[in-house]
Amino acid sequence: MSLFPRHQGVLDALKNRGRYRELIARNGYDFASNDYLGLSNAPFMRQAAHDALDRGVGVGAGGSRLLRGNDQEHVLLEQEAAAFFGSERALFLGNGFVANMAIFSTLPQLGDLVLFDSLIHASAHEGMRLGRADTQSFAHNDVAEAKLKIENWRAEGGEGRVWIACEAVYSMDGDKAPVAELYELAHQTDATLIVDEAHATGVFGDSGRGLSHQIANDPNVLCLHTCGKALGVSGALICGASVLIETLINKARGFVFSTAPSPLNAALVRAALNELQVNPDRQNTALAQTARTHDLAKEICGFEGFESQILPIIIGDDKPTMALAAAMQDKGYDIRGVRPPTVPKGTGRLRISITLNTPIDVIERMLHDLNDEMSALGLEAKFNG
Ligand SMILES: Cc1ncc(COP(=O)(O)O)c(C=O)c1O
Repeated sequence: MSLFPRHQGVLDALKNRGRYRELIARNGYDFASNDYLGLSNAPFMRQAAHDALDRGVGVGAGGSRLLRGNDQEHVLLEQEAAAFFGSERALFLGNGFVANMAIFSTLPQLGDLVLFDSLIHASAHEGMRLGRADTQSFAHNDVAEAKLKIENWRAEGGEGRVWIACEAVYSMDGDKAPVAELYELAHQTDATLIVDEAHATGVFGDSGRGLSHQIANDPNVLCLHTCGKALGVSGALICGASVLIETLINKARGFVFSTAPSPLNAALVRAALNELQVNPDRQNTALAQTARTHDLAKEICGFEGFESQILPIIIGDDKPTMALAAAMQDKGYDIRGVRPPTVPKGTGRLRISITLNTPIDVIERMLHDLNDEMSALGLEAKFNG
């Protein structure tokens, strides 16, 4: 008899439904990471770590930024990030999850409305749960519905500020948000647009500035650039108007009551941002490799409609999804299945990501094997891209 029978019961139920999650070791070619530019283990990044240590950068901050933890590396990173991404200010936090919690729990006020895309990340949901504003979703990428929801909310007496929230590139679907149209809607309705650039930073936009690169200087736009994906390190940069950044510094509990990220971490993010600026080849190579992969996926598997380096192969039910993932792992590819609640029910999928860690000939071979395994298991992708 388990000491924690209720917890054991929940775990057993997950196992029965094919939804039990386990930590498995990294194995095989990388088709699962978000290390899109291959920076996490790049020689120049390792060298940047040595150089930072040699110039005396600390490995720990020693406290909250508001106490002793405010290190020069954090300050320099924030100045460089604001200049690079084109915002008035930037704030560095330990990771994107905490950053989204900070944004959504702190900035929208009582009486405001947060209108979010239905596929927005779990961390934004956590923030909204802690916040005091009204929240409503709009159908994925449906700008017309978003507009209607704002009009209805106003017609029903909503008087506060509207915050429209989207991801630039959706983490599990790999499609892009209509950022320009959402920006236009925000403009028309006097709303503030929040763009989570997690999967676009480093990959899309001028020098990897993300899909919001042309609007990031508007104080009515707030952007989140996470540093653990294409930037290869960890952390997150919230970029926006000074008044919003200062509100976060004063009010975001995950910032105020938490040890600052390691200064070494900040130094490495600085190195990654510098790389985006001095070596455009890296972004261009990643984009070219993704484009070639889209062509190969069509030729070899008949898949169409992919928009980014994230390829969702939607199978449907959980068990066949995981069986296909296991078959691909057996062939030497680190490909993971993703099930509800991470994705909507009935849309279990392989989430294949294309990174500079895996060369194009291996990607081509993987697509042939994927095609063969799907035939062998009698599976068809329901919807691609
Ligand atoms: C869209 C999106 N936002 C935020 C996060 C959280 O970022 P981090 O991994 O830095 O905590 C993720 C991570 O998966 C993400 O996909």
